[in-house]
Amino acid sequence: MFGWKKRRSESTVASAPSVPREPRPSEPPRPAPTPAEIVLAYHHTTKHHYHRYARSAGYLDWETQPDPFRRFEGAELVRLPFGREDESPTYEALFRAGAVTPRALDARAVGTLFELALGLTAWKEFQGSRWSLRANPSSGNLHPTEGYAVLPGGVIESDAGEEAWVAHYAPAEHAFEVRARLATERGRAVMAGLPAESFLVGLTSIHWREAWKYGERAYRYCHHDTGHAWAALRLAAASLGWRLVLLEDLGDDDVARLLGTDRLDESHEREREEADGLAVVITASGEVTVPLGVTSEAIASAASGARWSGRANTLSPEHVDWNVIEIAARAAAKPRTEARVRTLPAPAGGPIPASDAAGAPTARRILAQRRSAVDLDGKTRLGAEAFFHLLQRLVPTGGTTKPAAPPWDTIGWEPRVHLALFVHRVDGLIPGLYALPRKESVAEALRAAMKSEFRWERAPGAPADLPLFLLRETDCVGLAKSVSCGQDIAGDGVASLGMLAELDETIREQGPWAYRRLHWEAGMIGQVLYLEAEAAGIRGTGIGCFFDDAVHETLGLTGTRFHTIYHFTFGGPVEDARLSTLPPYTDERRALTA
Ligand SMILES: Cc1cc2nc3c(=O)[nH]c(=O)nc-3n(C[C@H](O)[C@H](O)[C@H](O)COP(=O)(O)O)c2cc1C
Repeated sequence: MFGWKKRRSESTVASAPSVPREPRPSEPPRPAPTPAEIVLAYHHTTKHHYHRYARSAGYLDWETQPDPFRRFEGAELVRLPFGREDESPTYEALFRAGAVTPRALDARAVGTLFELALGLTAWKEFQGSRWSLRANPSSGNLHPTEGYAVLPGGVIESDAGEEAWVAHYAPAEHAFEVRARLATERGRAVMAGLPAESFLVGLTSIHWREAWKYGERAYRYCHHDTGHAWAALRLAAASLGWRLVLLEDLGDDDVARLLGTDRLDESHEREREEADGLAVVITASGEVTVPLGVTSEAIASAASGARWSGRANTLSPEHVDWNVIEIAARAAAKPRTEARVRTLPAPAGGPIPASDAAGAPTARRILAQRRSAVDLDGKTRLGAEAFFHLLQRLVPTGGTTKPAAPPWDTIGWEPRVHLALFVHRVDGLIPGLYALPRKESVAEALRAAMKSEFRWERAPGAPADLPLFLLRETDCVGLAKSVSCGQDIAGDGVASLGMLAELDETIREQGPWAYRRLHWEAGMIGQVLYLEAEAAGIRGTGIGCFFDDAVHETLGLTGTRFHTIYHFTFGGPVEDARLSTLPPYTDERRALTA
C-alpha cells in the first residue's frame, strides 16, 4: 500500500550516464573526480527522462520490504506523554514571534514536540493491510528519517539524576529508547555552550528504506524527507513557544558519535543510519547567538565515556546494493565547518489579536491532520488572497536585525531554492507559468537563465513583499501533469510547482555536502506548503517523480545553475473511501502517560 496513485511504473530501461568509473587500461589516466563532481554526477545519473527512468529494481520485492520502525532491542523504553488540544495555540500564532508563551521544559512538552513532528497521526486499513501515517511525510511512506534527543537529566524521568542521556524516538510507541547515559561532567561539557533549559534533537537517515523502492534516486528523497522533518520539528517547537536552530558547524562524525549511529555493528552495514544533523531546542526566550560552541572534543569524550545500550533491529532480511548512493553519500559527507554567526533576538511581538484567534484552527489540529492528497478533484479553486498568503510563508523575510519567521529561522543560509509555478485554478489570477525567486538578489540571474520571451510581470494584486511574476499566460494543466511523470495530481489542483535549486554555485561555494542542504531546503518548503494547504482547507502532496530536463526545457533553463529538485501540488482532495482510518495510539496507550 505504498504506491503513488496514477504513477507510471519506474522501470530500469536503458543505462543512465553514471557517476565517474575507473578508466579502462587502454585509456589515458584521468584525474580522479572531485567529491563535488561525484555529487553532480549523481544528480544527473538519477534524473528521470521521458524515455528512461532513473535506475531502480523496477518491481517491489515484498519479502525484503524494510521495517518502517527502527527499535533498539534491550534499550530501556521511556513512554512520553501526549499534547493536549486545549493547550495548543492557534496555527497562525506559530509564525508570529512572541505570540506563544514558552512552555516549561518537562516531559509533556518534550512528548508534544515529538508527537507533533515525528509521531504517528493515523493508521490506515485496506483489505487486511494496515499502515501508519506520521506528522512528517515521506516519499512512498517509507520513512528513512530517525529522530533522536539529547536531554539533560531530570527532564523526563524525575529520578534520573544529573546524567544527560541520548534517546532514540520510537514513533509507534511514542517513547524514547535510552541509547546512552553520558557521564555527568562529560555530558555537561557537550551542553556547556547551549542556553539554559535547552536540549538537542538529531536526525539520521536509513537510505536503504527508500532505496528498496526507488533505487538510485532514493538518496534525493531521503534528504527531502529530512528537510520535511526539520520543518516539522521547528513548527512543533513553535507550538510550545520554543525555538529550534540547526547546529550548522557540526560534521557528520560529530553527529554520528553523539547519537551512537557509528556504533551499529557490521550486520547493519547495508541499513546504516547516516548522520543528518543536530539542532538545539531553545525553550527560554532570551537573545541567542549562534554557533553555540558544541565542540567535537566534548562530543568524542562524552560518547566514549557513555554507557550505551540497545541493539538495532534488522529492517530487511536481504538487501540490494545501490552503489551510486554509497558513492554519493561518501562524497557529500560533511566535515566540521565554520558557521555564519547570527543573533536571534528575544522573541518580541506579543500575543496574536483575539479577533484573529476566534474560531481559528489550533496548531495541534493542523500539524496532526497533515496528509498527502492521493487524488485532486480538478475543480476546487482558491482565492488570490489565500494563494498569496500561502506563498508568502515560503519567503523568508528576516534580515540582520529581525529573524525570519519559522521555519526559516532554523537555518542560517540564504534561500537557494526558488519556485516555478504552474497556476491552474486561482480566482483573479491568469492561469499560466509563474516564477517566485525566494531572494531578491537572484531574480535577475533567474530571469536571464530562462526563456527570453517570458513576461516577468508582477502578478496583479500580489503584496509588495511577494516577488511573484507571471512568465506566460497559458493553460498548463497538461504540461504540469506530463513533466510530473504523468501524475494527474500535478494538473488537477489549484497549482503545482517545481523547486529550482542554485545547484552549481551552492556546491562550488559551500562544498559537496551542501547538496543535502538544498534538498532539505526544498523539503522545508514542502512541509510549509503541506501545512498551509491544510490551513486553507485544501490538501497538498510532495512530488518526487518528475522529468528533470523536461522541466528545464519548459523554462528554457540550460546548464546546472538552476535545477529543479522537488515538486509539489495542492488543491481540493478526493478521499479514497475504500480506506478506513484508525487512531494513531490506543486509549490504553494514552492512559499510560495521561
Ligand atoms: C519527498 C517526497 C516525494 C513524494 N513524491 C510523491 C509523488 O511523486 N507522487 C505522489 O502521489 N506522492 C508523493 N509523495 C507523497 C508520499 O507518498 C506521502 O507523503 C506518503 O505516502 C505518506 O503519506 P502522508 O503524506 O499522507 O503522511 C511524496 C512525499 C515526499 C515527502
